[in-house]
Amino acid sequence: MMLHIPQVLSKEETADIRRLLESSQDWVDGRETVGVQGAQVKRNQQLADSSELKAHLGQRVTAALQQHPLFFAAALPLRIIPPRFNRYAGGETYGMHVDGSVMQYTDLNGQSQTLRSDLSCTLFFAEPEEYEGGELVVADTYGEHLVKLPAGDAILYPSSSLHEVRPVTQGARLASFLWIQSMVRSEGQRRALFEMDTAITRLRETGGDNAAVLQLTGVYHNLLRDWSET
Ligand code: NI
Repeated sequence: MMLHIPQVLSKEETADIRRLLESSQDWVDGRETVGVQGAQVKRNQQLADSSELKAHLGQRVTAALQQHPLFFAAALPLRIIPPRFNRYAGGETYGMHVDGSVMQYTDLNGQSQTLRSDLSCTLFFAEPEEYEGGELVVADTYGEHLVKLPAGDAILYPSSSLHEVRPVTQGARLASFLWIQSMVRSEGQRRALFEMDTAITRLRETGGDNAAVLQLTGVYHNLLRDWSET
């Protein structure tokens, strides 16, 4: 399931982060963090892993995502990797690749952690009309999906998919990207929970039968209890 999450950040917050990114001296070759297969097709810039700005902005992005009801309902996050930031300009691109399935990272307390990448997330900082190309293309069994979202919006998609970022031929594409380990490992189960959650919310908002809503809410939580790992 691919899900567009609108307005993770307000336009003001987005512009503020963008200003900090554009004036940063911490940009390095994106191949600093990539496996052997990715290194052959990755041509972009990233904020260095050692960058204090990366750590600071990463916390802001993580906090915004965790407060977003749609993100929480869809991802059911257990662990979120500290977000990274990238920039594509002057024809830069990241050809078709697959992300690593198990990742090591250092958390805010300096502890080494392991994360299984269930979901990938890209948050956009430039408006679509400000650059040419730069679509995120996600290939799944239904075909290829092209994604280019307004600044402040995010896309959530399964980490199991092949994907690429098309060359940016004019302007610059600024984004943040991160991986999530979900409490619910199975894509199908996660989707069923999300759809049930969405339907329950709609029933509640439209004044559906209280007893039935309560019963369905109970079923949701019992399924989540059965299917989740914490
Ligand atoms: Ni990737």
